[in-house]
Amino acid sequence: MFVLAHRGASKAAPENTLAAFRLGFEMGAHGLEFDTYQVDGEIVVIHDRWLNRTTNGSGRVVDQTLSYLRSLNAGNGEPIPLLVEALQCLPESTLCNVEIKGMTNPESWLARLLECCDIAQINPDSLLISSFNHRWLLSLKQLRPTLKLGALTANIELNSLRFARELAPWSVNYALDTIEETEVKRAQEAGYKVLVYTVDNPEDMLLLQSWGVDGIFTNKPDLALATLK
Ligand code: G3P
Ligand code: MG
Repeated sequence: MFVLAHRGASKAAPENTLAAFRLGFEMGAHGLEFDTYQVDGEIVVIHDRWLNRTTNGSGRVVDQTLSYLRSLNAGNGEPIPLLVEALQCLPESTLCNVEIKGMTNPESWLARLLECCDIAQINPDSLLISSFNHRWLLSLKQLRPTLKLGALTANIELNSLRFARELAPWSVNYALDTIEETEVKRAQEAGYKVLVYTVDNPEDMLLLQSWGVDGIFTNKPDLALATLK
């Protein structure tokens, strides 16, 4: 089962910072997940819409200039990373999940992603691009059909997986609170990987492993790897 460091090794280091990403790799995580917003011509790495929880700044992320965002402390003196910096610190063959929290325009977002991949010498189609906003994902898929998509969902809906048929994602990424064993099987039989967020409890890790889940997002990759070995 894949262990993805959720916002990096975010229990032990400030979430969504390069320090948390590096620590996750040192712990042996198979992959990395982080959250992004498109701001001022760039793609920056931060989870919340507002700056106050994780930085010493204030206001809405998307209302700021890049130079202001880059002046902030995101924990232990770490800056808010740029997407390109996150990609540059990836070890080879690490699964990297770029979650889109904020996008102003799919064309310019994709153009910037491709530039960042070029700089970091990463194949853009090896990244897992996920979002709760399936319309953004569909727009990206139409622009670049080879993208590997992760359809995030917080629900098991009545029309379960219809959204996935339209998106043809690589994975469906479920909330731990709602995932059921039957849904794992249904999604896998339809051809999708099943990833579950956010799994920090060893008993949940083992239960999900027994269900055949393909991967988990965890704030504690060290604990997950010790539990699942
Ligand atoms: O991608 C899994 C998980 O990160 C989704 O929720 O709010 O932690 O970004 P959130
Ligand atoms: Mg996320």
